[in-house]
Amino acid sequence: MKIFLDTANLDQIKEAASWGILDGVTTNPTLISRENMKFEELVRKICKVVPGPVSVESVSTRAKDIVEEARGLAKLADNIAVKIPIGIEGLKATKILSGEGIKVNTTLVFSSNQALLAAKAGTAFVSPFIGRLDDISHEGMALIDEIVAIYNNYGFETEIIVASIRHPLHVVEAALSGADIATIPFPVLEKMVKHPLTDIGIERFLKDWSKVKR
Ligand code: G3P
Repeated sequence: MKIFLDTANLDQIKEAASWGILDGVTTNPTLISRENMKFEELVRKICKVVPGPVSVESVSTRAKDIVEEARGLAKLADNIAVKIPIGIEGLKATKILSGEGIKVNTTLVFSSNQALLAAKAGTAFVSPFIGRLDDISHEGMALIDEIVAIYNNYGFETEIIVASIRHPLHVVEAALSGADIATIPFPVLEKMVKHPLTDIGIERFLKDWSKVKR
């Protein structure tokens, strides 16, 4: 499973990249708004640090405008994927953009039918938001399982990004589901490395090593 970081924070992105496990980054307007840097400058800097795709969201609402905006975003760097919210206008834009070789990440996906239509329109990535479904007492991971099954049934090449991840168990469930990618907030990524028994074990080994005659 590929690991993307769900952030627009350069320090977090540089840190995760230094661990050697980072495959890409996803941003959205909310995440971008938290950073104190001009939008295009920030995106260019992120794209230089990240080895794989960097998703940047279109904020236009009509297909014609989405296409125009996406073409501009795609010019910022070679590894840009343009996030487009699912909808009729988004589907029309996705069809055109994917035909031009621009990678689309269909976002704000909350149903299997939305994911099916996005794949048919040629989207490169689909982003079901599991945490926001959990928030309203729906089983977010059940949606991932359905989309994995549907895409496998028909051989769709669209990659599934498990998004709106809130805790390490979501990542385990994403990996078990066979989803292609999990996009993870940095604090969750940090928690994934940790285990109290590892800390206790290291402490004990170091203590015992200090008694070894050398
Ligand atoms: O990748 C989507 C993600 O940024 C949304 O997360 O926590 O705002 O639901 P959240």
